Amino acid sequence: MSAGSQSLGVSNAPFVSQIQAFIDAVNGDGYVHKTSDLGSIPVSVYTDRDRFDIESQNIFAKAPVILGHISQIPRKGDHFTFDHLGQPLLVVRGQDDQVRVFYNICRHRGVRLVSREGVARKPSFVCPYHNWTYGLDGQLNHIPCLETFENDDVSGRHLVEVSSGIAGGFIFASLAGKGPIDMDGFLGELTGDFDALAMGEQAFFKQSVRTTKSNWKLIVEAFQDGYHVVRLHRNSVGPLFLDNVADTMRIKQHIRAMVARQGFDKMCQDDPKDWDVRNQLSLAYFVYPNTIMIIHPDYISQLGLFPVSPNETICVHSCFLDEEPKSEKAKAHFERAFDIIDKEVFTAEDFFVCEQAQIGMTSGVNQSFPLSKHEIGLKIFHEIVNEQIGDWPTV
Ligand code: FES
Ligand SMILES: [Fe+2]
Repeated sequence: MSAGSQSLGVSNAPFVSQIQAFIDAVNGDGYVHKTSDLGSIPVSVYTDRDRFDIESQNIFAKAPVILGHISQIPRKGDHFTFDHLGQPLLVVRGQDDQVRVFYNICRHRGVRLVSREGVARKPSFVCPYHNWTYGLDGQLNHIPCLETFENDDVSGRHLVEVSSGIAGGFIFASLAGKGPIDMDGFLGELTGDFDALAMGEQAFFKQSVRTTKSNWKLIVEAFQDGYHVVRLHRNSVGPLFLDNVADTMRIKQHIRAMVARQGFDKMCQDDPKDWDVRNQLSLAYFVYPNTIMIIHPDYISQLGLFPVSPNETICVHSCFLDEEPKSEKAKAHFERAFDIIDKEVFTAEDFFVCEQAQIGMTSGVNQSFPLSKHEIGLKIFHEIVNEQIGDWPTV
């Protein structure tokens, strides 16, 4: 059993009932989703500029989106910039240990206050242009030559805070919100999953950022599709999984999917107390609107997808461990594991086919994509997205 699976509180985890129902179905007449009316997905949802603009306004400019994890900024004054939501943002841990999100914009002439990428530590933020100085709590603490400003309210121009919240250690921000985000209301039952998976205690390990020439929704779909696993990934992780033994459940606007690994057969015979969840199946979450979380046996992949255009997406892949590696050998092991999943599986296989599909879409050969019963997760995902879009022409 891996270190990861030992930390998994199976007995009271909310995903246990879904696993049990999944096993009952497999032990019954095999497993194919009892669903009909799958329909098809119009190609225009991946290519149309108007559709992209509606998604930007109705989804990405409103929904709580993950910017990072508290383990990236463990000490007071730690901070990082975040620009993938289309606004310059600054995520900071304050002197009071609170994590806050601000617009990374000076209130004098609007200069981007912190220009450095990556995590850094500072006691305060000094704008490079005229040195207006802000505390870690966003308070404007110093204006050089204050007496020369005639405008009375100039000293009240503190940094503008963005609505934010934390769940499972992940830092969420909503560009449209006001005040703290109601994380329980947003995540529902998923907060229990985060607890069972000890998400809040995870240690940030590594991150890759790359731009993929593909619509963001194609990438979400690649991680909600059990149909391709043993096929596309036949030379990498495919042999670790059973073919088309997967289950998908909608939870509020999110999805909890599970794909059976080799060893799932034993799970079907065992008492839940003997389950080794992380080694017997892969949990794969879609956290609305743009996050994929994959629970591997001994680490977690979190993938944030940030649309740039209908056919371009920034993919931020972060790796989390139960604890920081204690030795060089352990560190090398996880570096190799991240490299394989990041480069050889996600990029060379999943992102590759998403880019190829995007090229195929512009040909006009297909007006829509048919769905199989093994692609039920895609149907659920599009239902969730379409709730925010309104009517969209079907084919
Ligand atoms: S623009 Fe920041 S101090 Fe002037
Ligand atoms: Fe895949």
